[in-house]
Amino acid sequence: TTAPPLDGAVGAPGVGDPYFPDLGNGGYDVERYALELTWQPDTGRLAGRATIEAVATQDLSRFNLDLVGLEVSSTTVDGADAEVDRAGREPQIPPASPIADGAPFTTEVTYEGVPTPVPDGTDLFEVGWQTDGREAYVVSEPAGAATFYPVNDHPTDKATYTVEITAPEDQVVAASGLLVGDPVAGEGTRTWTYEASDPMASYLLQIAIGDYELVDAGTFGDTVIRHAFHRTLADSAQVATERTAEMIDVLDDVYGPYPFEAYGVVAVDEPLGFALETQTLTIIGSDIARWGRRADDILLHELAHQWVGNLVSPATWKDIWLNEGFATYSEWLWSERTGGDSAAERARALVGTSADLDVPPGDPGTGELFITSVYWRGGMALQALREEIGDDAFFTLLRRWVDDHRDSTASTEDLVALAEEISGQELDELFDAWVYAPELPSFDR
Ligand code: TRP
Ligand code: ZN
Repeated sequence: TTAPPLDGAVGAPGVGDPYFPDLGNGGYDVERYALELTWQPDTGRLAGRATIEAVATQDLSRFNLDLVGLEVSSTTVDGADAEVDRAGREPQIPPASPIADGAPFTTEVTYEGVPTPVPDGTDLFEVGWQTDGREAYVVSEPAGAATFYPVNDHPTDKATYTVEITAPEDQVVAASGLLVGDPVAGEGTRTWTYEASDPMASYLLQIAIGDYELVDAGTFGDTVIRHAFHRTLADSAQVATERTAEMIDVLDDVYGPYPFEAYGVVAVDEPLGFALETQTLTIIGSDIARWGRRADDILLHELAHQWVGNLVSPATWKDIWLNEGFATYSEWLWSERTGGDSAAERARALVGTSADLDVPPGDPGTGELFITSVYWRGGMALQALREEIGDDAFFTLLRRWVDDHRDSTASTEDLVALAEEISGQELDELFDAWVYAPELPSFDR
């Protein structure tokens, strides 16, 4: 007998994120991206071929990717040519015949162009591929990945990555994951291959191309510690990152073993004024690299994100406080455990400062995703929770949170449920007051 022909249905153009409805796509789940990228700094052009291995999650007659701007020259699905219809940032790809629910498929997209960053929703910054005409690197949170590769651009679809980057021979490439072999020389170029074998959300992929010194900083247990410092700031970046192993040690104790194959920092030649927790390779600006040991707090923050944010990612962008509140709270725990102020003191010190904390961290709004309240009041909410359920339950919660949701995503509701399970207490009121109500509550004591 032959199976009846499959009709299939069109995959959704988004995953239904309340803040960014277009992000990600329905109907499939990516397992692996293999990206071959050629960076041409003289023209600002990036030429790419993406091979995307996925599994259909419905009978699929057509699926979308997310890709901003760049021109697609050819697309195949399982080796057969497919005609792409481009609807803005949503290439729509109809396979020659529908793909059955549960079936694996591979799509290959060849593309090229000048990558252009996109607003991050907050108007503060444009995210995605960044360049000064020579050096290039990425800061993608929340929606910039699609500026340099075709992607199912939402944290709910994590995948592993192999990236093969060809750059002028006098440039060095650093990326998420581990370098495989030596760079391979071409005509005036070198090709660098990085393998990132831990599942990763698309906004966390780092690729940096510049005049870097690759620094081997040893290991912590099984974790390789390696950095990439722009040559002009290598000495101060070395000082700034001196305590990396010690920080991993403290956070291992809080959250459980460091979750990925490697960790390190890429310090780029641009005073970004910020850092981003790109997976296994946090990016920092030249200004922060030059702070020396005053960078401890921010580096601890980005390291903590490897557990809270990267291993466990927000279910939707509305849950951003689960990243930023936890990473901020981790700074306070580091302080508490290294002879500084306690978390209780750090939390209370923020009351009455000029920052606007009357913004609910659990629903800050698309335009205010990274507002101070998400960080500070998010951390204060965790301190209030700790005081309500006690240290034993609280630290059990932190470990269970990471362990129960590893390689996946979680929501604020998941946190409430787990905290109630572990403590045996009703915690709706506490979370409502600290996370969802507009007005900042006060600490009892
Ligand atoms: N997640 C970063 C942090 O808290 C901050 C951040 C948010 C960011 N969006 C960004 C940094 C975009 C660079 C670009 O450490
Ligand atoms: Zn952060």
